Amino acid sequence: MRMTVIGTGYLGATHAACMAELGHEVLGVDVDESKISRLSSGEVPFFEPGLPEVLERNIQAGRLDFTTDYARAADFATVHFIGVGTPQQRGSYAADTRYVEAVIDDLVPQLTGDHVIFGKSTVPVGTAAALQERADALSKPDTTVEIAWNPEFLREGYAVKDTIEPDRIVLGTCGVDSRAEAIAREIYAIPLARETPFLVTNLQTAELVKVSANAFLATKISFINAVSEVCEIVGADVTQLADAIGHDDRIGRKFLGAGLGFGGGCLPKDIRAFMARAGELGADQALAFLREVDAINMRRRQRVVDLAREELGSLIGRRITVLGAAFKPNSDDVRDSPALAVAGQLSLAGAAVRVYDPEAMDNARRVFPTLDYATSLDDALTGAELVILATEWQQFREMDPAHAGELVQDRLLIDGRNVLTTEAWQAAGWRLRALGRG
Ligand code: UDX
Repeated sequence: MRMTVIGTGYLGATHAACMAELGHEVLGVDVDESKISRLSSGEVPFFEPGLPEVLERNIQAGRLDFTTDYARAADFATVHFIGVGTPQQRGSYAADTRYVEAVIDDLVPQLTGDHVIFGKSTVPVGTAAALQERADALSKPDTTVEIAWNPEFLREGYAVKDTIEPDRIVLGTCGVDSRAEAIAREIYAIPLARETPFLVTNLQTAELVKVSANAFLATKISFINAVSEVCEIVGADVTQLADAIGHDDRIGRKFLGAGLGFGGGCLPKDIRAFMARAGELGADQALAFLREVDAINMRRRQRVVDLAREELGSLIGRRITVLGAAFKPNSDDVRDSPALAVAGQLSLAGAAVRVYDPEAMDNARRVFPTLDYATSLDDALTGAELVILATEWQQFREMDPAHAGELVQDRLLIDGRNVLTTEAWQAAGWRLRALGRG
């Protein structure tokens, strides 16, 4: 099938490349010329394992191309995906849907014939219906434009696999006379042949599925982090506790990783936008608990700063190394990164903070130019009075405590992700503090 994918950030670029990988002819569209020229030459503008190979292979095969030209997009296909961002509005919790609206405004007046637009962006419930009205008002006579919603559940770091082999496909349609389901069955024929669950719902349900999934994941992380606060006070071990409750398959061990908490471009903004939307709908009490989920999450960052102060006394002039800048491993994304937030707070408190991350250095430098950035892990450790493991990259998990001990000034470490083996580090003479492990 031929299709366009409008918006070529993490979501759109991955979707475009993976749809081509599934055998479709895809045109990626973005207003950002530099992004389009990088993608056209086979370069992925962010770190995502496996994506460069998929991009390159499909450009070479002639199935994938990119453009900034909406007129070309309108001629290219009758099926379009929207994957533009819906960031948090400035000064509010609500999502900013202006980029999604702009796609409709730019694309729809140029369309001729019968088109289906599949929204993939995470949007407040009610957006798809509003976009349908907008599209109806803008479309030419004798042209039909149907809006459907097909939320995306990909995780950064596993984006290719999550797109090509999704664990479920959700499609919201307007119901009567909808063409979207038949088209989606063709687009996703390969994953559907593998018996991937396919759930067809109305537009509102599909929109809510996405925000509910992210709200649940955020709640699960904050649940274990709240329990970890209690563990710390009484000397219990939250990692053993998580293992124990995780064996109950109604609970499950995934997303019970206690530590510095969640960040990134989705979870924090999505729970806030969900609360804001519930408020607009008169259901603010229903989601009031998400405020607590957010607060627990933010307290984890403060707790690490407090631990540093507990260990070092005054932070002024103290040499602290923060390992990690990305919001999670296998990503160079620093949006709302707990690691960078901790590094920033320590720096503002007067510490001499040195940061190292295997992939996110350039992005981190742009957000926090005043921090000191190390050139390697060894360089980062050299002379440190305190080391904080803030993002659990494999390279950090595999650090040799004896070798690291020779580089630092003081063998003092805060494991902000509960991933190091306490005994091994203690045996090498380190004093180890962790979140929720006494
Ligand atoms: C998330 C959802 O998982 C995905 O389905 C959705 O499409 C987008 O948002 P992503 O932001 O890529 O994906 O990251 P995810 O792997 O979910 O991790 C989110 C954050 O939670 C990270 O900061 C991670 O470090 C943190 N986390 C995760 C924990 O603190 N503990 C855990 O046990 C798991």
